Amino acid sequence: MAEVVIVPDAASAGALVADEIVSLITADPEVVLGLATGSTPLPVYQALRERLAGVDVSRVRGFALDEYVGIDPGHPESYRNVIRREVVEPLGLDPERIHVPNGALATIEHAGADYERAIAAAGGVELQILGIGTDGHIGFNEPGSSFASATRVKTLTEQTRHDNARFFDSIDQVPMHCITQGLGTILRARHLVLLAFGEGKAEAVAGAVEGPVTASLPGSAIQLHPRVSVVVDEAAASRLRFADYYRYTWENKPAWQGL
Ligand code: PGA
Repeated sequence: MAEVVIVPDAASAGALVADEIVSLITADPEVVLGLATGSTPLPVYQALRERLAGVDVSRVRGFALDEYVGIDPGHPESYRNVIRREVVEPLGLDPERIHVPNGALATIEHAGADYERAIAAAGGVELQILGIGTDGHIGFNEPGSSFASATRVKTLTEQTRHDNARFFDSIDQVPMHCITQGLGTILRARHLVLLAFGEGKAEAVAGAVEGPVTASLPGSAIQLHPRVSVVVDEAAASRLRFADYYRYTWENKPAWQGL
């Protein structure tokens, strides 16, 4: 099962995950990280920024989960720009080594296969950061996504477009389609770290961790993976049936095991 770590707040989650990422970079300066956008991973990037002094990040490689299709690449909310602004520049990564699915319409028919090839050529993702949508999506794999899916174009649900409207002037400007790593792609990463904060995520987290494994809740795909860390605050953990057990397990975890 997933290891569930209940932390007091998002900053503590960021610190925990950032420590793990720094260890990975130190052990392998060319490590391949799976990056996520949205509000949830920001505390991780913030904590990383505070920990990278003296760490050589010049060869770190990264793959983002998803991108909007047809969005102007210069748009501040294209995920290419979000990743540049929130990850690449603040952490001092090499932009040439950080990849985002290509949402350009001209090449969209083969963009998914191209991305899969690039991930495979890099040797796969070592640690994949994940958020979860209120509808249970991971990446932009909306309910109904195949657990075997690869990077491909999906149609966003109205719920997701509504949730993401806060980044745009109006919901009408939120693109209708996205290109996202598939659930199959995500499951090939060697360590999944799913973060969630706040009451609004509690139901999706409970479903993903403890509910039935079902395409109706794509986040439940994590139950098929041998190494998953779910790092949540108290509010996001509030619907977990076995929360006391997760706390007990974490408190008694041998220090050498790390996250
Ligand atoms: P959020 O989005 O981090 O902005 O809440 C999570 C997601 O949609 O995967």
